[in-house]
Amino acid sequence: MEWAYGYDKCFGLVHVDYATQRRTVKSSGRHYADVIAAHGAAHRPGWPRPDPAQRRAAPAPLRGPGAACVVGWPRVTRPWATGPGAGSTTTRRGRNMAEATMRAMAYETYGGTEVLAETRLPVPKVGPGEVLVRVKYAGVNPVDWKIMSGGLDALMDVVYPVVPGWDVAGTVERVGIDTPEYAEGDEVMAYARKDYVHGGTFAEFVTVPVRALAHKPASLGWAEAAGLPLAGLTAYQVLTRLGTGKGDTVLIHGAAGGVGSLGVQIARALGARVIGTASPRNHDRVRALGAEPVAYGDGLADRVRALAPEGATVVADFVGGVLSVTREVLHNDGRHASIADPTVTGSGGEWMWVRPVGSDLAELARLADEGKLTVTVAETFPLAETAAAFALSQDGHTAGKIVIEV
Ligand SMILES: NC(=O)c1ccc[n+]([C@@H]2O[C@H](COP(=O)([O-])OP(=O)(O)OC[C@H]3O[C@@H](n4cnc5c(N)ncnc54)[C@H](OP(=O)(O)O)[C@@H]3O)[C@@H](O)[C@H]2O)c1
Repeated sequence: MEWAYGYDKCFGLVHVDYATQRRTVKSSGRHYADVIAAHGAAHRPGWPRPDPAQRRAAPAPLRGPGAACVVGWPRVTRPWATGPGAGSTTTRRGRNMAEATMRAMAYETYGGTEVLAETRLPVPKVGPGEVLVRVKYAGVNPVDWKIMSGGLDALMDVVYPVVPGWDVAGTVERVGIDTPEYAEGDEVMAYARKDYVHGGTFAEFVTVPVRALAHKPASLGWAEAAGLPLAGLTAYQVLTRLGTGKGDTVLIHGAAGGVGSLGVQIARALGARVIGTASPRNHDRVRALGAEPVAYGDGLADRVRALAPEGATVVADFVGGVLSVTREVLHNDGRHASIADPTVTGSGGEWMWVRPVGSDLAELARLADEGKLTVTVAETFPLAETAAAFALSQDGHTAGKIVIEV
């Protein structure tokens, strides 16, 4: 028997086998009314009908296979069930209510920090090629609250409830099938981005694909290790993509921030001279990291030219809105990239998005253990105060990394 269904933002067509109570989702990610039209399906009497207003509210058609279904599934009551659990509310498709739960910060709608709430969710299943990490610290990145605001909706699907967070340091709790690289108890860190936004690191447990994982460097504490992956990989991938090496003069826009403070050290480790922009109160710290600090704002290009009259051979923009300065100070044969300004491509620059590459992360761990890379932790918050951590990050003047202790 096939029925159209629609709850909250979940629309689709489900096949129900009344003998076994098995439900198979045959079509999802489409609006309820469209599903009825496309399949000639009927609304089952007695099942809740979606509010017509949701047609306007739903971002139909939703993208991503199965995404829309999982979105609404947590609130689906089971009027068809007759056995154990009849009439109960499923927590997630295919999940047993008796399974263990964990503490997590999550949101069920886009918005500001007010949408974040502490909750309990099922401990995620560990898939093949994944490990389950018991989170000790999770790193905060601007992308966490940018996604939560809906600002990246055109780029990535979210599946509610969303546990935000992509950076993690912790221990391997369980390994999935065929993950010989890791064993229970291993100390690891990861930029745990997945194909869609759902089970993040601001929780007691998170699953991570092995390809995104690396062993935690012994030289870094847990908080520092949690602050390294996303920002460190960003800086490393930008600087290596630009072929940074000996003989280069690198200008880093935003040298005091999470990405920039790691970028300064990585560029130095690659053998380059580094000039870094920061507000004067951060100059001593930027200098200690290995760069020649310059204040940003009016006259920046002149100040850079005074230090490097021949121009910068590499410019890494970790702030955005600085393309005109980049063009003014770039050497004729120079290379440049931005992580915060897509318009750089119009001036021959690279517009880059960090990738979760475990081997790159292992390289950063090696640099840390060789004493070439440190992570400055600007502030630590307990899990329940993740909203306050996001608010501090939104301020845009963090000196180093903000981390969450779980
Ligand atoms: N595309 C990607 O893959 C990718 C990856 C990571 C991050 N990002 C983006 O890159 C940006 C930086 O990320 P983040 O984690 O480093 O952020 P962050 O830690 O919050 O950066 C804050 C820093 O930016 C500095 N800053 C603010 N305005 C500046 C300006 N006009 N010139 C120079 N420095 C300035 C501040 O220095 P002062 O306090 O001295 O002012 C502060 O130290 C964010 O927009 C983030 O979303 C993109």
